[in-house]
Parts: sequence; C-alpha cells; structure tokens
Amino acid sequence: MTLSRRDLMKNAGTLALGTGFAGLTLSLAGKATGAGEQPQIKIPDLPWPYKKLDPIAVAEEAYRGYYKGACGYGVFESIIIQLQKEIGFPYTMLPLTLFVVGQGGVADVASVCGALNGAAHAIFLVTGGMDKKPREASYAIIQDVFLWYEQTALPDYRPKAPKYEIVKSISGSNLCHVSVSKWCKVSKFKSFSKERSERCAWITAAVAKHTVEVLNTYADGAFKITHPLSAVAQSCRGCHDKGSKLENTRAVTDCGGCHFTPTMKQEHPKL
Ligand code: HEC
Ligand code: HEC
Repeated sequence: MTLSRRDLMKNAGTLALGTGFAGLTLSLAGKATGAGEQPQIKIPDLPWPYKKLDPIAVAEEAYRGYYKGACGYGVFESIIIQLQKEIGFPYTMLPLTLFVVGQGGVADVASVCGALNGAAHAIFLVTGGMDKKPREASYAIIQDVFLWYEQTALPDYRPKAPKYEIVKSISGSNLCHVSVSKWCKVSKFKSFSKERSERCAWITAAVAKHTVEVLNTYADGAFKITHPLSAVAQSCRGCHDKGSKLENTRAVTDCGGCHFTPTMKQEHPKL
C-alpha cells in the first residue's frame, strides 16, 4: 500500500472520504477539474493483498454475477466484491464492468472459457507481478486451475436456488467452444438454450469457488499443484514444446481433444 489514510486526509479537499478506507471514493467534481489539479491516487503494483474468503459465499455471488455480466465477470466480480468488503482500497478502484468482455472467453468468441479468464485475472491480481518469479509462481496456480477445469466433471457446485438441474461433463479442454459442445452432447440441450446458460452459471460458480479454495491454500503458504498435465501431454511436449528437439508448438493442455481423435483421423507419423 503506497497511500496511507493520513495522506488521503491531507488531500481531503479533493477527495470525498467515506467511513474508512473501504469507503474511499474519488470526487472529480468541484475544484479539481482543471488539468494538474486532479487528485493523484497511486494504485499499488501487484500483487495486491489477499484475505481468505468463504468459497460458498463467492460461488453464490458468482452465480448471480453470471446473470448480470456473464461468466468472466461472474468469477472476477464475485472475488473482487468480497475483497472490496474485506480490504477496500485498492479493490474499490477497479472498474468491474471491464470484465464483462470475458463473456464466452473474450467478446463471446468462445475461445478460452470465460470463467477461467476471470479466474486467471483474479489470481494474477493477488499473486502475480512483473518480475519473472511472481509471474511464474502465479502462472503455476492459474495453470493448476485450468487443468482442474479440463480434467474434472463439472459443474461440481450446485447453487442454492438453481433454475434447472444440470448434468456434469468433462471438457478435456480449457476452451469455451469445447466445453459447451461436450456438455451439449451429454445433456442433449442446445448451445443457446436457457439450460446451457444455467449450466454456464453453475460453471461460473464452480470456477469461482475452486479459485478461492486455491487462493486460500496459497494464503496459508500451502499451495501445491493438484492437477498436473497428463503424462501423455507431457510426453508430447517433450518432443514438440519448449526446449524439445522439434520445438514446433506450445500448449499446457491436453492435446488429445484436437489431435489424433477418431473424428479428426490424424495419424502420428511413425517415430
Ligand atoms: C518421441 C518424440 C515425439 C513424441 C513423444 C510425440 N511426437 Fe509428434 N511428432 C514427432 C515427430 C518427429 C514428428 C514429425 C515431424 C515432422 O515431420 O516435421 C511429429 C509430428 C507431429 C504432428 C504433425 C502430424 C502430421 O500429420 O504431420 C503432430 C500434430 C504431433 N506430432 C502431435 C503430437 C502429439 C499430440 C503427441 C502426444 C500424443 C506427440 N506428437 C508426441 C515426434 C514426437
Ligand atoms: C484446441 C485444439 C488443439 C490443442 C488442444 C492442441 N493442438 Fe496442436 N494444433 C492444433 C491445430 C488446429 C494445429 C494446426 C494444424 C494444421 O495446420 O494442420 C495444430 C498444430 C500442431 C503441431 C504442428 C503440426 C504440423 O503439422 O506441423 C503440433 C506439433 C502440435 N499441434 C502439437 C500439439 C501438442 C503437443 C499439443 C498438446 C500439448 C497440442 N498440439 C494441443 C490444434 C490443437
């Protein structure tokens, strides 16, 4: 934190102070409208402080958030709103609406699952940083959450007041497109049905809950990788990914969903 409450009090003429740090709001009205007169609030660099959260409260908020601003927003907002309550500044400075663009991955194109996109941003916010060490440590947590998502039968959380009952499916992928399509195959519902929306609301809740559980273990200094990349994918990467002989691709995900599936009819060349 680079700004003390006393610093803020000193600037009280240009700031509208609430009941405490958490209630801090900027007032650009009145005198502080001219260039150079704007209040200077220094937003601290990452990582921001984290306080252990209640995974169920976060999951329920994420479920509600999905119906407001979709999957990416649902996960991100559910965690940040709790941190706004628990910690206040700087979480109160985030424009949460920005994360609406995480809908269906990014801007509804169904690339990476939007719930995972929201989770990745929340995780990086509280664990990441510009330098190599915090960056890689944060990526390890994010990758563990992504691999949990692709390997687990989801949704594994049932909201307290659901609109419909939802069957589980295993995506084998971190992609919205694959995840939704596989669920449609298992459930027999259409990809633009109300039931599929409800399924993604449950997914949003499940991802938010799991993310907070992982962050809570991280806060206890007890984070461990629980969902490593499959042995098969690791062997593929051993010949094709960073540092390998061919080094002609990159991916930390299961390869089998796209390569060498019966529908895609590719054959690996004889090794
Ligand atoms: C022992 C090393 C090795 C392993 C393990 C391996 N590959 Fe390969 N792979 C190769 C070689 C060598 C080629 C041929 C490269 C070339 O012709 O340029 C190849 C080619 C490919 C191609 C191109 C196929 C084509 O039709 O030309 C794909 C896709 C691929 N591998 C994916 C995978 C996946 C997925 C896995 C894991 C299931 C995997 N590889 C495991 C060595 C390996
Ligand atoms: C989301 C689907 C998807 C996933 C997951 C995926 N790939 Fe690919 N991969 C592709 C596509 C599409 C191409 C381009 C194929 C082409 O141009 O013929 C490609 C290309 C490749 C190539 C180059 C093939 C060539 O002909 O030279 C290799 C090697 C490869 N992938 C390996 C992997 C490995 C290893 C993994 C897992 C670690 C993986 N892929 C995961 C879709 C995927």
